[in-house]
Amino acid sequence: MDIKHVGVIGAGQMGNGIAQVAAMSGLRVTMVDVKPEFVAKGLETVKKSLAKLVEKQKLSAADQGAALERLGTATDLSSAGTWDIAVEAVIEDEKIKLDLFRDLDAKCRPGAILASNTSSISITRIAAATKRPADVIGMHFMNPVPLMALVEVIRGHSTSDATAAATVELAKKMGKTPLEANDYPGFVANRILLPMINEAIFALHEGVASKESIDGIMKLGMNHPMGPLALADFIGLDTCLAIMDVLHRGLGDDKYRACPLLKKMVAAGHLGRKSGRGFYAYEGGGAK
Ligand code: CAA
Repeated sequence: MDIKHVGVIGAGQMGNGIAQVAAMSGLRVTMVDVKPEFVAKGLETVKKSLAKLVEKQKLSAADQGAALERLGTATDLSSAGTWDIAVEAVIEDEKIKLDLFRDLDAKCRPGAILASNTSSISITRIAAATKRPADVIGMHFMNPVPLMALVEVIRGHSTSDATAAATVELAKKMGKTPLEANDYPGFVANRILLPMINEAIFALHEGVASKESIDGIMKLGMNHPMGPLALADFIGLDTCLAIMDVLHRGLGDDKYRACPLLKKMVAAGHLGRKSGRGFYAYEGGGAK
């Protein structure tokens, strides 16, 4: 399948990164969000990221301009009929995703692929909300999308080989390395990453060490680029909690129970970088 036009639904942290990388790889892109200000903020982030890549000589000024020309925006799904694939990157809320996939199923042309960037919600359940489960697949990008090599490709129970093959090809075209996983809670990336982060939060909660020590030990001792608490702030503590709850419910094992400190911080609105405060305090996107 020759994918030429990608619709990305959601202009937030993940959506704008996916739209950027797709546009950089020569694809036509429509980035959609519900409010003009969300779309404008997403586009601003793309412009900043492209400028950074030019500054670091990873992208030419001509390619920067061409990528921006290929990237259109919208506040509704009226252009969905012209897309070859829709990549959903909205909030991790199952009801919102199922409603959106019903809508995409009605508006996208027959044969178009419906992909979800969900970090943990069942692809099989999302697919069952549509009349085309063979065309539904998980395409899980990592944050920050322009810099991270992986796309986890998740087959739902009914995903066809043709859909999987086209999605793998698309990820490669976007300069990413696709690796396949089956549809179980958290897939592979978050089933392994999030319990580690949750354990780091337990270690802080129980007074095993300070946040600086916990992060420093994992950075220096394990060569991780970020410590687990800084990474939790980067991902968003609400997202971390939502993924732990999916693992706990879906796998039925108490070893996946979310740390009470994580729950308390989310209840307090300390969500990490996006709210300016998590385990660390942030100003203008950087740690204070
Ligand atoms: N676009 C372009 N450039 C960017 C960028 C973006 N979106 N984000 C950062 N950069 C640039 C920075 O500006 C910086 O440039 P300079 O060197 O000129 O200052 C450069 O990239 C490196 O960034 P940093 O200085 O911040 O330092 P870093 O070397 O630590 O790299 C990082 C940043 C790539 C984020 C690195 O810390 C890292 O790999 N962290 C781990 C990220 C990770 O684990 N992601 C997965 C999260 S889990 C997930 O996404 C799945 C899920 O479902 C929850």
